[in-house]
Amino acid sequence: MKISIIGTGYVGLVTGACFADLGYEVCCADVSSEKVNLLQSGVMPFFEPGLGDIVQRTLKSKNLFFTSDANIPASFADVIFVCVGTPQDITGKPDLSYLEEYFLNLIKTLHENEDFIKNSDAKKHVFIKSTIPPGTIKHLNSIISNNSLRDKIVLSSNPEFLKEGSAVQDFMRPDRVVVGSDNQESIKIAAELYRSILWKSERMLVTSPESSEIIKYAANSFLAMKISFINQIARLSDAVGGDIHEIRKGIGMDERINPHFLYAGLGYGGSCFPKDVNGLEFVMQSNNLSSELITATNSVNDSQVRYFLEKILHLYSPEELQKKEIAFWGLAFKPNTDDIRESVAIKLLRLLAPIVKHIHAYEPIAIKNAMTELVEIKNISYVESSLDAIKNSHFLVIATEYSQFWNMSPEHFMQLKDKCIFDGRNILDKDKIESMGIQYFGVGR
Ligand code: UGA
Repeated sequence: MKISIIGTGYVGLVTGACFADLGYEVCCADVSSEKVNLLQSGVMPFFEPGLGDIVQRTLKSKNLFFTSDANIPASFADVIFVCVGTPQDITGKPDLSYLEEYFLNLIKTLHENEDFIKNSDAKKHVFIKSTIPPGTIKHLNSIISNNSLRDKIVLSSNPEFLKEGSAVQDFMRPDRVVVGSDNQESIKIAAELYRSILWKSERMLVTSPESSEIIKYAANSFLAMKISFINQIARLSDAVGGDIHEIRKGIGMDERINPHFLYAGLGYGGSCFPKDVNGLEFVMQSNNLSSELITATNSVNDSQVRYFLEKILHLYSPEELQKKEIAFWGLAFKPNTDDIRESVAIKLLRLLAPIVKHIHAYEPIAIKNAMTELVEIKNISYVESSLDAIKNSHFLVIATEYSQFWNMSPEHFMQLKDKCIFDGRNILDKDKIESMGIQYFGVGR
C-alpha cells in the first residue's frame, strides 16, 4: 500500500519512517524545501532515538522519499495522514490554519486531476493525526462538502500517542490504535495498515470521529492531571514530613490508580501537555461548560517551578545568592530528546539566572537548542560533563532526569562548596546523600 504523510514534524516523520520500515511505500511532504533536502539526504531535523537509522534504511530501500511539491502526495497515494501543526494562538485557542490550508490545497489539486474526478470509485482516505479540538472533522467536512469532492475525500481521526524519546518503540508497540471514522472502507484500510504491529487484536479501537478527537485531548489532560495531583500532594508531604516516593507507591499499588505518571517534580512541559490541556479548557468553555479540573491542572503546573524555587530562596538570602555559582543539570523538557519547548528546566533557569552569580549548565542532548533559546543570559557557561558543572559550584540543581544523573557516584557531590543539592526530579538517594553530610531538597521528600 502507498501512503502520503503531510508534515514532517515530530508526528509526521516518526509515522512516515515507521510505516516505510513496515514495508509500505511512503511519501513524506513538507512545505520547507530546505528541510526536505536535508531529510532526503538522511539528516534528521531533531533527535529521536532510533529514528535516524530507520529514515536512512528506508531511503536506501526506496520505501521512503521526501518532497516539498504540494501536488505529489495526493497523486502518489490514496491514503493520506495529515500531521501538520496545530499550535495555540495567543488566546490559547488551537490554530487550525495549517490544517485548513492543507485541505483547500488538496481540494484544488484534486479538482485539477480529471481522471480522479471522472472515476466515480476514486477516493482519498485522509486520516488526521494532528491533535485537533473535538468538532474539527465536522468543520473540515463542511469545507469539503461545499464542493463536488464531498464523497471523494473521506476524513477520519487517528490520533497519535507517541512519547518523545521513545516514539519509535511507541509506534511499533502501541498501547492502542484509535480510529475515529464513520466509513467502513477507511476502517478496513486502517486495520490493514496497523495489522502487523497490533500484536493484540483488541488494541484497535474504532469510534466516532468526535470520540476519537476527545480521546486524544482527554488522555493527555488526564496524564497531566495525574502529574499536577501528585505535585500538589508533594506540597502536603513537604509540609508534614512525608516522602512522596512512599506515597506514590502506596497509592499506585491500587490497580485503579496505578503508579505511572505519578512522579512529583518540577511539573510537566513539552509541546503536548501544556498545549492540549489549554486546548481542552478552550473547547470546554466554548461549549459553555465549566472546566475547573482542567483549569486547576494548569494552574498547579504553572506554580510548580516557583514552588521549587522557593526552596532555594528559603535557604539563601538574596545577598547570599548573588555570590553563588550553581551547577544546573538538564535543560530539555524530558530526557532523551533535544526538545526544549515549554521546558520547565528552562523556566527555572530563567528565574535563577538574574539572582545568582553564575550558572554552570550541563545538558547532554538538547544543548544546541538550549543555547539558542537562552542567548540573552550572560552569566551562564555550558560545560562538557555533569562533573564539570559541579567542580566550581556552591550547590547543584537537577532539572531533567537523565539516567546518567541517577547513577552519579555520590562522592562527587562532596565537591560542591556548600554541600547542597536541589533535586527537582527526585532522582537521588536522599538518605545516602544526607548521611554524607550533604543537604538535600527534593519535591515532597
Ligand atoms: C505526551 C504523552 O505522554 C503521549 O502519550 C502523547 O502522544 C504526546 O504527549 C503527544 O500528545 O504528542 P511527551 O510530551 O513526549 O508525551 O512526554 P511525556 O513523557 O508524557 O512527559 C511530559 C512531561 O511530563 C515531561 O515534562 C515530564 O518530565 C513530565 N512528567 C511525566 C512528570 O513530571 N511526572 C511524571 O510522572 C511523568
